Amino acid sequence: MLTVRRSEAPLGAEILGVDLSRNPDEAVFREIVDLFHEHEVIFFRNQQLTPDQHVAFSKRFGELEHHVRKDCCRPGYPELFVVSNVLENGRPIGTRDAGLFWHSDLCYMSEPSRCSVFYAREVPHDDQGRPLGDTMFASATAAYAALPDATKLRLAGRNAVQSYAKGYYRDRQSGPRPPLTDEQQRRTPDIEHPVVRTHPATGRKCLFANEGYTSRIAGLDAAESDALLAQLFAHVTRPEFVYRHQWRVGDLLIWDNCSTQHRAVMDYELPRRRLMERATLRGTVPF
Ligand code: OGA
Ligand code: MN
Repeated sequence: MLTVRRSEAPLGAEILGVDLSRNPDEAVFREIVDLFHEHEVIFFRNQQLTPDQHVAFSKRFGELEHHVRKDCCRPGYPELFVVSNVLENGRPIGTRDAGLFWHSDLCYMSEPSRCSVFYAREVPHDDQGRPLGDTMFASATAAYAALPDATKLRLAGRNAVQSYAKGYYRDRQSGPRPPLTDEQQRRTPDIEHPVVRTHPATGRKCLFANEGYTSRIAGLDAAESDALLAQLFAHVTRPEFVYRHQWRVGDLLIWDNCSTQHRAVMDYELPRRRLMERATLRGTVPF
């Protein structure tokens, strides 16, 4: 039995006593998966992982994605997406702002990501030694469950449009981004998914609409859709549904992209360095 320390939020739990550099045996891995489904965000502290070990552990969950932004992957590792403000020879080694807006990863794909496996290599600190660059996570299951019945009824059976372009082009601290290439656009057309989806492993209902990428609710006129989305975005990120993770070097954290949303907190800049690497697991078609 693994030792677990729950956060005070409806999601988030630390798992103690596991060394992921030795890929866990099948029984331990099953337990990790069960804890992941139960807590939606799980993490392990003090892990010392090579990129190969990070990839090997992540692959236990399934097939890894290669991000459409190839320029942001670790050299030699198309399955490791780099989130960092670090420059090498004046050039960014990854994407600086992966998620300034609430979102879930790859929600705009026909098969949105199942989960992301995020590893902290460098964490910025303030002058008092407190960590900066936290990540916030919201439980989309707790948020759905707490919706008024009338809103649940309005959403039932509806689709929402997910748009990579909406998320890509919106305002960012790092300034405008280069236009998407033809290939990137081809791989990321706007797509519809159920606005309330069922978690494929737990059967729980999750609100699948996020501020970052969801552009409209299909079948409603624009004003109605905008108003309802604004209400949902405000609801899902209410403090009672949120776990805020303070990073330490060596944290390996897994978030569920079906049952949670997340947002980066940008409260640091160079020379304070942040370097994180993300393996992203392929998911299944939402229902
Ligand atoms: C991501 C992401 C948040 C962060 O990598 O998908 O949203 O805090 N990162 O860097
Ligand atoms: Mn993200």
